[in-house]
Amino acid sequence: MRKKLIAGNWKMNGSVAANEALVEGLLAGIGTPVCQVGLCVPSVYLAQCQALVAGSVIELGAQDVSQHERGAFTGEVSCAMLKEFGVRYCLVGHSERRQYHFETDAVVAAKAQRALACGITPIVCVGETLAEREAGKTEEVVKRQLAAVIHANGHCISEIVVAYEPIWAIGTGKTASSEQAQQVHAVLRSQLQAASNQAGRIQILYGGSMNAANAAQLLAQPDIDGGLVGGAALKASEFLSIIACTH
Ligand code: 13P
Repeated sequence: MRKKLIAGNWKMNGSVAANEALVEGLLAGIGTPVCQVGLCVPSVYLAQCQALVAGSVIELGAQDVSQHERGAFTGEVSCAMLKEFGVRYCLVGHSERRQYHFETDAVVAAKAQRALACGITPIVCVGETLAEREAGKTEEVVKRQLAAVIHANGHCISEIVVAYEPIWAIGTGKTASSEQAQQVHAVLRSQLQAASNQAGRIQILYGGSMNAANAAQLLAQPDIDGGLVGGAALKASEFLSIIACTH
């Protein structure tokens, strides 16, 4: 049985004071969750958040990483640097990186490979635009995105986490129905199964306007193994309610 993972993606939000209040609020109410919990925070706050979550059940994540090991890549952060701050997870290929920073499937695959080589679990994000869904291309798009990562990583693929995030559901308040999400998750699961006999243990998260009201239904689906939560991860009570849905 796969453990569920609820990961918060703070995106470009937070401040020293706000982070402290948010993490303290989470720690006050989190107890002993049955799921794994991660927080993907802006890189500049990794040191602060590492100290805040130290000794707790919350694990630290980053939102992006360089595909390169080191060197003349101004503004980039390497996996080795993330490791120094106790980072367990790293998002790769979030749709906002693909869209605004022109990350290709090949770049995303290289980032996943770099993370795996460093012992960081890449959370590989895939998802279709509204136009692609309406054109009936959802499966084709997510399979192409995941195939690049499978191709680059071979049997190591069993160490990744996948996040299905339909772009039309991100930050819009429009959630994929649990049936719509499950359908895509099942497609991704069988693609992973074809690549690795360990695929049964790969967590596939859903992301896109997940909140306290819709989480339980989404998380009840057989192939939905957790959530990648944006806006609702910025309020301790809301994020805790989502975590509680994994019981
Ligand atoms: P929202 O939960 O704000 O829709 O964001 C989802 C997301 O992009 C998480 O990575």
